[in-house]
Amino acid sequence: MGLNDSSPGAMRNGRGLSDQWAESVVVRPRTTERHITVHKKLVLGFALSILTLIIVTAVAVVLSVRYEECGARGSPEVGSRAPGGSSRLNGSRDRAGDRGEEEVQPWRSSRLPGTLRPRHYELRLAVCMDNFTFSGDVSIEIECVNATRFIVLHTDRLEVDRVSVTAEGSGSGRFSNRPGGGVMRIHRHFAFPLNQMYVVVLHRELKPMRLYRLNISFDAAIEDELLGFFRSSYTLHREKRHLAVTQFSPIHARKAFPCFDEPIYKATFSLTLRHDQQYLSLSNMPVESSVLSEEDGWVTNRFSRTPRMSTYYLAWAVCNFTYRETQTDSGVTIRLYARPDAISSGAGDYALHITKRLLGFYQDYFQVQYSLPKLDLLAVPNIRTLLWRTGA
Ligand SMILES: *[C@@H]1O[C@H](CO)[C@@H](O)[C@H](O)[C@H]1NC(C)=O
Ligand SMILES: *[C@@H]1O[C@H](CO)[C@@H](O)[C@H](O)[C@H]1NC(C)=O
Ligand SMILES: *[C@@H]1O[C@H](CO)[C@@H](O)[C@H](O)[C@H]1NC(C)=O
Ligand SMILES: *[C@@H]1O[C@H](CO)[C@@H](O)[C@H](O)[C@H]1NC(C)=O
Ligand SMILES: *[C@@H]1O[C@H](CO)[C@@H](O)[C@H](O)[C@H]1NC(C)=O
Repeated sequence: MGLNDSSPGAMRNGRGLSDQWAESVVVRPRTTERHITVHKKLVLGFALSILTLIIVTAVAVVLSVRYEECGARGSPEVGSRAPGGSSRLNGSRDRAGDRGEEEVQPWRSSRLPGTLRPRHYELRLAVCMDNFTFSGDVSIEIECVNATRFIVLHTDRLEVDRVSVTAEGSGSGRFSNRPGGGVMRIHRHFAFPLNQMYVVVLHRELKPMRLYRLNISFDAAIEDELLGFFRSSYTLHREKRHLAVTQFSPIHARKAFPCFDEPIYKATFSLTLRHDQQYLSLSNMPVESSVLSEEDGWVTNRFSRTPRMSTYYLAWAVCNFTYRETQTDSGVTIRLYARPDAISSGAGDYALHITKRLLGFYQDYFQVQYSLPKLDLLAVPNIRTLLWRTGA
């Protein structure tokens, strides 16, 4: 009650004090409880963290043991994979390197490896003058000089479709179960544009002294640039006319067909040209057979086999020219092919006359007969000279 009799201020104070006290009294156990709970939490925290630490350490130890075991098991592999140290950096090439494939890489040389020698080219081309494209297939008879798993030859800007390699049997060689002949399995084939090469990697080696046949089919454009198999144009009766001719010397045959495009690789060539019958086609050799297809109005001209020669001597043309001809005393026919208006106006007669005299002169001078049955001169309009001739 005394507490109630006190002044309101004192009461307030007393109350306040008692309240404070009361509070403090009430609070104290609370704070101790808090301390206790804090302690409990700390302990629990410590316990938990220690437990965690133990678990983590245990896991780490287990893991490190496992890791060491793995490392111990893995290290011999690494060692075997990189015995020389250098092949480890070449990564995925290692496995192929075991078989000696990528270590050689003959296509990285600017010259052909010399392990193979072409003997004969069977070349067939379909020339489309409407959209200036041509598609072809070449079948090259190859003699193996040194054993190799790589066939390296030249291509430039040709899109290769199909590749096949067969071993030519001693007899007909047609049947793959014959011991002498059969299809050679191709590991992979790819272009190496840096050296204008095409590479065929085989599963097995080609054997020296044996003959093989490499077939490649390809597509390409007839470019407007005076190299390889290119196009040219002229105007006749106010109409634009086109022709397609070759310029292979020195290294542009590879733009027209896959070949061993170095002068030392001499071979014979059998060319077959297919084109619209509105055009005529010419090559080094005379036309052996000419077949007109009633279906599409295309003509297929097969030319005689050439003598043994380098790729850059090969030449052909698809044009709508007419010609004038003469014969040398030794019986070689010389023809000048040019645009019809030039022929009818006699513009080419001088060239024809000069060529006849020159050929006679050279034959007398060198005492060597001109080796081909004919000589064609072609007046290619854009070049404005009689640049193109057939024959060696
Ligand atoms: C990778 O291999 C090539 C031959 O294929 C070799 O010339 C080159 O030195 C190798 N690179 C390394 C880093 O060993
Ligand atoms: C060009 O024309 C021929 C037929 O004349 C066709 O077979 C070929 O696909 C054509 N090429 C392109 C690239 O259009
Ligand atoms: C390769 O081409 C030649 C001539 O075109 C042909 O007779 C031969 O059957 C072809 N070989 C293969 C495997 O395609
Ligand atoms: C091919 O083998 C002969 C020995 O038979 C060797 O003299 C020549 O260097 C070899 N050529 C190539 C390109 O490996
Ligand atoms: C080829 O020339 C003949 C006559 O000279 C002409 O009728 C024909 O249309 C020409 N063809 C082409 C494709 O230029």
